[in-house]
Amino acid sequence: MDVAVELEKLQQELENSFSKLPLASKKTDLVHGEGDPQTKVMLIGEAPGYHESVERRPFVGRSGKLLRKVLKEVGLPPEKVWISNIVKVRPPENRDPTPEEILAFRPFLNREIELIDPEIIVTLGRFSMAKFLPDVKISQVHGRLHKVQWEGRPMYVMPMYHPAAGLRSTQVKESFIADFQKIPKILVWLKDQQAVKKTKAEIEEILF
Ligand code: URA
Repeated sequence: MDVAVELEKLQQELENSFSKLPLASKKTDLVHGEGDPQTKVMLIGEAPGYHESVERRPFVGRSGKLLRKVLKEVGLPPEKVWISNIVKVRPPENRDPTPEEILAFRPFLNREIELIDPEIIVTLGRFSMAKFLPDVKISQVHGRLHKVQWEGRPMYVMPMYHPAAGLRSTQVKESFIADFQKIPKILVWLKDQQAVKKTKAEIEEILF
């Protein structure tokens, strides 16, 4: 399967469904995910803002600039990860997305996650966090790796503050940066975990 081709098809499908989606009055209102389809790291934000809906790219406004700068600084260039949103059209006045809006975009986001098949999902802010970790407080869990069962499969989820919150508070910005600095180490740890699993599987095969 060519993931890039399948993602392209998914984006087409989303555009063809625009009239059934909330918030969208035309195809070009949709802001798709972008990045490296082969990445190990997928980031999920909330919804596009003004600049995102003009450029039709996720996280290109003020908070996006902070996010992209921090990604580069920790050795994860933005073009080497996948960046997306739970809601793919800008809500009016940048208000919070409603549960109905999140639900309407959910099948597309779920398929996007399945196609990218990342090793780790970084949620940005409480709305995308709640997709995997309901009933937790971001102030208590940010920057901590969670292994969850999602749609019948194990998934590593790292909840992070939304970069817009980092623009409003120096303390949050410091946590946001410190949390991102953990990701390269986590990727090494995950690789070691897989190596251990592989070794175990090989030993099991000899026994049988
Ligand atoms: N905030 C988000 O959550 N997503 C974007 O794409 C831009 C700002």
